[in-house]
Formats: sequence, C-alpha cells, structure tokens
Amino acid sequence: MTMQEKAAGRVASVMQEDRVFPPPAEFSSRARIGSMAAYQKLYDEAKNDLEGFWHARAQTLPWSTPYAKVLDWNPPHAKWFVGGRINASAACLDHQIATGKGGKTALVWVGEPTGERREFTFEQLHAEVCRVAAGLQKLGIQPGQVVSIYMPMTPELVIAMLACARIGAVHSVIFGGFSSEAIADRNQDAKAVAVITADGGWRRGAQLPLKKNVDDALKSAAHEPTSVKNVIVLKRTGQAVDMVAGRDVWWHDLVAGQPADTPPVAMDSEAPLFILYTSGSTGKPKGIKHTTGGYILWAKTTAEWVFDLRDDDLFWCTADCGWITGHSYVTYGPLAAGASILIYEGAPNAPHEGRFWEIIEQEKPTIFYTAPTAIRSFMKWGMQHIEGHDLSSLRLLGTVGEGINPEAWIWYHEVIGGKRCPIVDTWWQTETGGIMMSPLPGCTPTKPGSCTLPLPGVCPEIVDAAGHPVEKGEGGWLVMTKPWPGMLRGIWGDDARFVETYWSRVPGKYLAGDNARQDKDGYYWIMGRIDDVLNVAGHRLSTIEIESALVSHPSVAEAAAVGRPHDVKGEAVAVFVTLRDGEPTDALKDVLRKHVRHQIGALAAPDDIHFTASLPKTRSGKIMRRLLRDIAAGKETVGDTTTLEDYSVLAKLRGDQE
Ligand code: PRX
Repeated sequence: MTMQEKAAGRVASVMQEDRVFPPPAEFSSRARIGSMAAYQKLYDEAKNDLEGFWHARAQTLPWSTPYAKVLDWNPPHAKWFVGGRINASAACLDHQIATGKGGKTALVWVGEPTGERREFTFEQLHAEVCRVAAGLQKLGIQPGQVVSIYMPMTPELVIAMLACARIGAVHSVIFGGFSSEAIADRNQDAKAVAVITADGGWRRGAQLPLKKNVDDALKSAAHEPTSVKNVIVLKRTGQAVDMVAGRDVWWHDLVAGQPADTPPVAMDSEAPLFILYTSGSTGKPKGIKHTTGGYILWAKTTAEWVFDLRDDDLFWCTADCGWITGHSYVTYGPLAAGASILIYEGAPNAPHEGRFWEIIEQEKPTIFYTAPTAIRSFMKWGMQHIEGHDLSSLRLLGTVGEGINPEAWIWYHEVIGGKRCPIVDTWWQTETGGIMMSPLPGCTPTKPGSCTLPLPGVCPEIVDAAGHPVEKGEGGWLVMTKPWPGMLRGIWGDDARFVETYWSRVPGKYLAGDNARQDKDGYYWIMGRIDDVLNVAGHRLSTIEIESALVSHPSVAEAAAVGRPHDVKGEAVAVFVTLRDGEPTDALKDVLRKHVRHQIGALAAPDDIHFTASLPKTRSGKIMRRLLRDIAAGKETVGDTTTLEDYSVLAKLRGDQE
C-alpha cells in the first residue's frame, strides 16, 4: 500500500461516523456521570449558570481564604475565584492527608534500568515536597519567581514541581529532550532565577547529559547575562558533572536537615502556578501561563470525570512532565483527586518492545493514558511482545496528543483493552490546561476517531473565516465561546501576542488553532491545525522554528519545513534547503540534522532533507508550503532539484497565492 493509499484509507475510515461503541454497563452503574441524560443535565446546568456551576465544584478545594467572586470576565482576560487564596501543593497533598488518605499510595515509580522501583504514600510525598520547598526558600527563592525544571521522569520531577508550587514559585518545566539552546531561550524569556536538574537521565541504556546541557545554556553567549543564580542537581546516574561553587548545589545537600512540614504559601487564586513553553506559528516558543485556583479545579474535575477515578485506581499516564499532559494528568489532576499515579522513566522499547506490558503486569494499573503515536508503534512492533502478558488490571484506556486513526483505535480497544475497556479520546491543548472534549466512560457512546462531545462548561463552536458558525458536517475553525477555569491566562511577558494569537481572528472567542467538524450527532472530529504547527509524534513543532534553526547554519541560505504523513509519528518533518555554500551531500544532511538537534532538540531533527537550488514562491515572495507538502508526501514526483525549479517558475508565472 502506498503512503497516499494509506492516507486515503485513513480518511475513508474517519468518515465511518456510524460505527458506534456503546458504553459498558459495568461503568454506567458506578460512574460519576453514568448516562447521557445525566451528562446533558450537567452540561445544561453549566451552560445556563456557568458561575454557579463552578462555584459548586470549587467547594471541593481546600481554600485558605474563600473567594469573593467566581468569575471576572473582561474578554479576553479572565480571573477565576477572585480574591480566593489556595496552594496547589496543599490541594494535592495536605488535603489528602487531612481527609484520611495519608497512608494511601500517591506515587509509584518504575525506573529505566529494569528493577528500579520506588513508592510514596501521600504522607511521604508531602514530606519530600516540604524538604525541597524549605531548601528552595533557604536559597532565597520568592513567590512569583520562576524556577526552570529540566529533569528525567523521576519522582523528584513531580516533587520539584510541587515544591515550587508550595512556596509560590512559578515552575517552567523544560522537557529533557530539549537542547541547551532551548533551555537558554526559555530561561531568558521567563527570567528564571534557578534551574532544578539532574546529573543525567537514562534513555535506552544511555546517559543523557542533563547537567552539561544546563551548564552550556548558562554559558550561552547569546543569552548573557543569565538571570539564573542557582542550579540544584539531583544525583541520578552518578555520571561526572562540574559543580560551580556558589551557584550549584546537590539536591541531597539542599534537603538535608530540612523540615518535613514546611507550610504552604497561600497564593492568590490568579497567581501564576506554572509556565509551559509551546510552539506557535512564529519562531519563538510561547510561555503559556496557567494560574492557581482555576487550573487546579479544572485539572482535578476533568481527571475525575474523564478517568472516572475511584479510590482503588492506579492511573498510568505515560506522558513526561515536560508536556502539559504530564502537568495535568500525571501531577496536578490525579493527585488533587487523591488518586494513585504510576510513572515510568524509560522508553517503551527499552530494554525490549514489551516493556509497557511487563510494567502493566507487574504494577497492575487500572487506567492507561497514552498517545496515538505510541499505539501505532505497538501495532508495528507486533503481537509477540504483548501476548503472554496479563493486562487484565486495565479497565479504562485513553489517548491524547493527536487524532487517533480508527484502525489504531480498534486495535487499542481489542488488543490492549480486551474489548472491555472504554477508550477516552481526549482533545485539549497546552493552552486549555486540561481536557475539553472527550467521551465520559460509562456514559458517552464512542466513535473511533472522534473526541465526541464537550465536557460540561466547555462551549465549542465551529466557524468560518468570517466567524460565523458553519452547518453540521462542514469543516471550520474550532473556537470556544465561553471562558473556563483552566484556560490560559496569557503568554508570559507578551500580552499583545496572547490577544493576537487567540482572540483577534474571531473576535471575543478563543481560537484553538485546529480545524474541526461536527457530524450529524453533534460529535466533534478534529481535522488538524490551521497554522504552520506540526504534530510530530504528538509533539507540537513550529515549522518556522525549524527553519530558523536551519538558516542559522552557515551553509544554509534558505529553508522551508513542512509535515508529511508518517505511519507511526503521524507527521514527519521534511525540509527543503537552498545552500549558501557547501555541497548537497549526505554528509551535509547529517550535519544539518545535528545542527537542528543542537538548536532545538532531537524531536525536531528533520526526517527528510531535500536540497534544492531555489524554493517555490508566490509573486509576493511567500514560500508555497502547500506545494512543498505535496512534494514531501510524494504526491508529485520530484526526482531532482530541476523539477522543483520548474515548480518555482510555474508558481511565479501563475502568480499562485497560498
Ligand atoms: O491539534 C490538536 C492536537 O494537539 C494540539 C495541542 O497540542 P499540545 O498543546 O502539545 O497538547 C497536547 C496534549 C494535550 C491540538 O491543538 N490534539 C491533541 N489532542 C488531540 C488532538 N487532535 C485530535 N484529537 C485529539 N484527541
């Protein structure tokens, strides 16, 4: 089957709107929202009285000062639970202890070198968080200051996040796969005063040089002078690292002798809890700002609804805390709901392709939440890695990060879920703070490939370029017409960009940046991005960021990056490069791949590099990305650069506009 045939097959099956899977009765009888009638009632309640609805739910949070007003909506700026004070780490830890869950397992960690395992009760996690919080305070870190976290997926990553939250510092987690340049950019943009890192991390048996990357970032000439005063280093791999006197401190030294009961700082409901950088349609990543009260309520409530959390659940969300999924559904959502979480440091195929199933058999998680790209890898690796493992502990499966193709959905349902586990296909974004559209298990009949319906309190609409709602069945831009507690409050340090990016193309409505359509039953089908953002293995990448990285190499004159369909990653990165000097050789391709890796990180390294004498452009000089996408996907046969030249000439003659 060719790539095009596969893509066509995917589209055809996406159109199978009538394939409906009813919710299993076992769920319906016990779920919080156990029927479509109950869902509709709740949905209407929220729609008719948004503030009353969230006021009722906010009573489940441990406020230290009650709020005076539920919502202050001054579009596009929202304040939720105005005047209230609360601490997010206390909502996740102290509140659980106060309600009798202190001895319950909060976190189970499985490390990459097989055999490593640690477990923390809520009390133990609380004690660790308190020690680190006190250590950070001793370094002089104040509420409102930003602390970058660049760590492997160890319990200490979760602890570091919660410790920042405890003292009111704003964490900015940087995924461990990002390069030193990316760390330097983020530190500078956020004016981070400290970085919490580790000597290294494990990845497929190799040691990642995390501390060295931080050192390089702090030395980056382009980012002088750095705002970072302290670096806290967890000893993880034991590899040799340089410690700078007066700046660097070992984690174990920082926490030694610190109290296990550091009081949480009562934060204003609208105080920033964290920043998380994500790619947009320009070269500069945006620091998405989330605040405290609304976010914690959103993360907790959506975790309870969508994952039907029960007291005896063990929730395995496979995301790294470097991404929003790891913030909302590894850390804040489940812990604030008092659930037990399972985290794993390593790769799914190390030391073998059956690693995830081995972990499920050993740890017996009941809920498993992963990304479609991972599911497609499992399918490719084959049944032999799954057969023989006992997966019967699982009762609910979830996916996130991109649309799941129906073939993968069915496979997930049958092979991993043994046909008994409902699947929640959850649509949301870094900006939304938590899940916005998803089936509710035991309630919503599912259709493979659709994220089904909005959660209560979420008001989506699909509009045309003029902002008018389109008919059912027609595609258009997905917008939100009402504020919700978990919504982003801004882009760090750039309110103009926040207003411009999300609120100006369709005035007064939140523009998600996705195309979508609703079917005859009102179910939503996400159809991909409307901007130049790629979704590679569930990760957002900006084409312009990749282009800027390439152009910063001395051999490159001009570059264009596009996505092309990829069986496992969903999209792969294809770049077209014109050279300033140097020969268009495979060796240069390797050099350029390494260069992008160094500038951004391995996740952005191009899969395909095409050298060309010039790029096809419109008369106004815009690169014709649509044409390049077709070429990259193999829809047009381009054997050599001359053909691309011809396209370029053709385009100019026709005066085509993108
Ligand atoms: O295009 C949508 C896609 O991922 C984008 C958000 O990416 P990010 O902020 O990195 O957050 C990913 C984890 C929440 C969206 O704009 N996306 C995410 N989930 C889905 C999805 N597309 C289709 N179906 C989904 N379930």
